[in-house]
Amino acid sequence: MSELVRFGVSLEKPLLERFDALIRERQYTNRSEALRDLIRRELVQREWREGGEVAGAITLIYDHQQRDVLSRVTDTPHEFQKVIISTQHIHLDHHNCLEIIAARGNAEEVQRLADALTSIKGVRNGTISMSSTGREIG
Ligand code: NI
Repeated sequence: MSELVRFGVSLEKPLLERFDALIRERQYTNRSEALRDLIRRELVQREWREGGEVAGAITLIYDHQQRDVLSRVTDTPHEFQKVIISTQHIHLDHHNCLEIIAARGNAEEVQRLADALTSIKGVRNGTISMSSTGREIG
Protein backbone atom coordinates (compact mmCIF):
# COMPACT_ATOMS: atom_id res chain seq x y z
CA MET A 1 0.00 0.00 0.00
CA SER A 2 1.18 3.53 -0.79
CA GLU A 3 2.17 5.97 1.92
CA LEU A 4 -0.77 7.98 3.30
CA VAL A 5 -0.45 11.75 3.12
CA ARG A 6 -2.70 14.08 5.11
CA PHE A 7 -3.74 17.44 3.73
CA GLY A 8 -6.19 20.11 4.83
CA VAL A 9 -9.21 21.10 2.79
CA SER A 10 -11.09 24.38 3.27
CA LEU A 11 -14.75 24.42 2.28
CA GLU A 12 -17.69 26.76 2.73
CA LYS A 13 -19.86 25.45 5.58
CA PRO A 14 -23.01 24.85 3.49
CA LEU A 15 -20.99 22.91 0.91
CA LEU A 16 -19.42 20.76 3.62
CA GLU A 17 -22.87 20.08 5.11
CA ARG A 18 -24.14 18.94 1.73
CA PHE A 19 -21.04 16.78 1.27
CA ASP A 20 -21.59 15.18 4.70
CA ALA A 21 -25.25 14.52 3.86
CA LEU A 22 -24.15 12.87 0.62
CA ILE A 23 -21.58 10.78 2.49
CA ARG A 24 -24.26 9.52 4.90
CA GLU A 25 -26.63 8.78 2.02
CA ARG A 26 -23.94 6.77 0.21
CA GLN A 27 -22.95 5.04 3.46
CA TYR A 28 -19.31 6.09 3.49
CA THR A 29 -17.68 5.65 6.87
CA ASN A 30 -15.69 8.89 6.62
CA ARG A 31 -14.90 11.93 4.47
CA SER A 32 -11.52 10.58 3.37
CA GLU A 33 -13.01 7.50 1.74
CA ALA A 34 -15.67 9.57 0.00
CA LEU A 35 -13.05 12.02 -1.25
CA ARG A 36 -10.82 9.18 -2.49
CA ASP A 37 -13.73 7.81 -4.51
CA LEU A 38 -14.52 11.21 -6.01
CA ILE A 39 -10.90 11.62 -7.09
CA ARG A 40 -10.79 8.10 -8.55
CA ARG A 41 -14.03 8.72 -10.45
CA GLU A 42 -12.48 11.80 -12.06
CA LEU A 43 -9.33 9.84 -12.94
CA VAL A 44 -11.40 7.05 -14.51
CA GLN A 45 -13.33 9.59 -16.58
CA ARG A 46 -10.04 11.04 -17.77
CA GLU A 47 -8.78 7.59 -18.78
CA TRP A 48 -11.88 7.17 -20.94
CA ARG A 49 -11.65 10.70 -22.40
CA GLU A 50 -7.98 10.39 -23.24
CA GLY A 51 -8.24 6.95 -24.80
CA GLY A 52 -6.27 5.07 -22.19
CA GLU A 53 -6.46 1.39 -21.28
CA VAL A 54 -9.82 0.93 -19.57
CA ALA A 55 -12.17 -1.77 -18.35
CA GLY A 56 -15.94 -1.79 -18.23
CA ALA A 57 -19.18 -3.64 -18.70
CA ILE A 58 -21.78 -3.26 -21.41
CA THR A 59 -25.32 -4.30 -20.47
CA LEU A 60 -28.05 -4.98 -23.02
CA ILE A 61 -31.72 -5.85 -22.75
CA TYR A 62 -33.38 -7.21 -25.86
CA ASP A 63 -36.16 -9.45 -27.10
CA HIS A 64 -34.49 -12.44 -28.74
CA GLN A 65 -37.62 -13.17 -30.78
CA GLN A 66 -37.57 -9.79 -32.44
CA ARG A 67 -36.35 -9.98 -36.02
CA ASP A 68 -32.56 -9.93 -36.54
CA VAL A 69 -31.73 -8.72 -33.02
CA LEU A 70 -30.17 -11.94 -31.78
CA SER A 71 -27.98 -12.39 -34.85
CA ARG A 72 -26.78 -8.78 -34.66
CA VAL A 73 -26.03 -9.01 -30.95
CA THR A 74 -24.16 -12.25 -31.59
CA ASP A 75 -22.31 -11.09 -34.73
CA THR A 76 -21.10 -7.68 -33.54
CA PRO A 77 -18.74 -8.96 -30.80
CA HIS A 78 -16.83 -11.00 -33.40
CA GLU A 79 -15.48 -7.72 -34.77
CA PHE A 80 -14.28 -6.69 -31.32
CA GLN A 81 -12.62 -9.86 -30.03
CA LYS A 82 -9.56 -7.92 -28.94
CA VAL A 83 -11.40 -6.03 -26.20
CA ILE A 84 -14.01 -8.57 -25.05
CA ILE A 85 -13.06 -10.56 -21.96
CA SER A 86 -16.30 -12.45 -21.38
CA THR A 87 -19.99 -12.45 -22.12
CA GLN A 88 -22.83 -13.58 -19.92
CA HIS A 89 -26.31 -14.24 -21.28
CA ILE A 90 -29.29 -14.47 -18.95
CA HIS A 91 -32.80 -15.41 -20.14
CA LEU A 92 -34.93 -13.00 -18.10
CA ASP A 93 -38.27 -14.36 -19.25
CA HIS A 94 -39.90 -15.82 -22.36
CA HIS A 95 -38.94 -12.77 -24.47
CA ASN A 96 -36.28 -10.73 -22.73
CA CYS A 97 -32.58 -11.43 -22.56
CA LEU A 98 -29.95 -9.69 -20.47
CA GLU A 99 -26.45 -9.69 -21.90
CA ILE A 100 -23.43 -8.50 -19.94
CA ILE A 101 -20.21 -8.03 -21.87
CA ALA A 102 -17.02 -7.41 -19.93
CA ALA A 103 -14.46 -5.45 -21.92
CA ARG A 104 -10.90 -4.27 -21.45
CA GLY A 105 -8.68 -2.32 -23.79
CA ASN A 106 -8.41 0.97 -25.61
CA ALA A 107 -11.19 3.33 -24.46
CA GLU A 108 -12.20 4.32 -27.99
CA GLU A 109 -12.45 0.69 -29.07
CA VAL A 110 -14.56 -0.28 -26.03
CA GLN A 111 -16.80 2.73 -26.62
CA ARG A 112 -17.17 1.76 -30.30
CA LEU A 113 -18.24 -1.73 -29.24
CA ALA A 114 -20.79 -0.28 -26.79
CA ASP A 115 -22.14 2.08 -29.47
CA ALA A 116 -22.39 -0.71 -32.04
CA LEU A 117 -24.37 -2.90 -29.61
CA THR A 118 -26.66 -0.34 -27.99
CA SER A 119 -27.66 1.14 -31.36
CA ILE A 120 -28.92 -2.22 -32.70
CA LYS A 121 -32.60 -1.91 -33.51
CA GLY A 122 -34.51 -3.98 -30.98
CA VAL A 123 -32.04 -3.48 -28.14
CA ARG A 124 -34.44 -1.97 -25.61
CA ASN A 125 -31.83 -0.71 -23.23
CA GLY A 126 -28.07 -0.54 -23.52
CA THR A 127 -25.72 0.94 -20.97
CA ILE A 128 -22.00 1.08 -20.40
CA SER A 129 -20.39 1.04 -17.00
CA MET A 130 -17.09 2.87 -17.46
CA SER A 131 -14.51 1.57 -15.07
CA SER A 132 -10.78 1.14 -14.83
CA THR A 133 -8.12 -1.52 -15.03
CA GLY A 134 -7.26 -0.31 -11.52
CA ARG A 135 -3.61 0.40 -12.27
CA GLU A 136 -3.87 4.18 -12.62
CA ILE A 137 -6.18 4.94 -9.74
CA GLY A 138 -4.15 3.92 -6.70
NI1 NI B 1 -32.01 -15.38 -23.76
